[in-house]
Amino acid sequence: MELIDGKKIAEEIKREIARKAAEIIDAEQTPPHLAAILVGNDPASETYIASKEKACRAVGFTSSVYRYPAEISEQQLLEVVDFLNTDEEVHGFIVQLPLPRHIDANKVIERINPAKDVDGFHPVNVGRLALGLPSYVPATPAGIVLLLEKYGIETEGKHCVVLGRSNIVGTPVSLLMSRKAVPGNCTVTLCHSKTTNLAEITRQADILIAAIGQPGFVTGDMVKEGVVVVDVGIHRIEDNSEKGYHITGDVDFKSVAPKSSYITPVPGGVGLMTIVSLLLNTLKAYNREIY
Ligand code: GUN
Repeated sequence: MELIDGKKIAEEIKREIARKAAEIIDAEQTPPHLAAILVGNDPASETYIASKEKACRAVGFTSSVYRYPAEISEQQLLEVVDFLNTDEEVHGFIVQLPLPRHIDANKVIERINPAKDVDGFHPVNVGRLALGLPSYVPATPAGIVLLLEKYGIETEGKHCVVLGRSNIVGTPVSLLMSRKAVPGNCTVTLCHSKTTNLAEITRQADILIAAIGQPGFVTGDMVKEGVVVVDVGIHRIEDNSEKGYHITGDVDFKSVAPKSSYITPVPGGVGLMTIVSLLLNTLKAYNREIY
């Protein structure tokens, strides 16, 4: 069993991004600028935004956060999106999800200029991904593919089983794994809450990507010997430790790791790659690589 070291790979890629940002700054150009819109005070969103800002600082990007109270109206939020769409100082931005219930998130996402949609959530980017055209790829799926690539994991002709069909992870990663590319060329099965005989399917997986949002859901009896396991879950579990909690994934590491050829730990696996992929998308926006 080999641990997939997301931390090491993320640090390597960040150093490369920092080198590119330094070149831009040395040429007296303004560095890439990533902005985020944050509505309300969801703790997970606060954590994500804080790591995004820290990562931007670390590589020399400009970062800004537009914070609004949960009571902001949909119309006001759409106006903020319009502002960032046309602000030439901002190269890419994200609207942190979830949004309060009175705001239609789809309507807000559709308002984002696809050329600045570094989350890759706009229907134009999702459609282009589905068609195999150049597009922004959502950060977590992009990070997963980067990890498989960096570890030289064979994907062609393999059976990849994805657990979870969210717009943020499950659906786009299933598109990436089935596309005609490396990594890719997998036979993909996308499982979800209505899937029957789930364990029978997961036991056929050569590559198993768990993104269902349930701690410890995948257990050793659900995987075959030699499987490659990618754990996307991040759950904070209260305990009696000094910190008062620990972080765990969708996979029961203790029973699954001994049967795996490769496995991503939580923390230290996919999570750190998400932010790095967002930085890479911002660099693409800056260089106008896609639009
Ligand atoms: N909420 C959870 N993950 C994400 C993400 O990748 N982007 C945004 N905008 N919101 C999220």
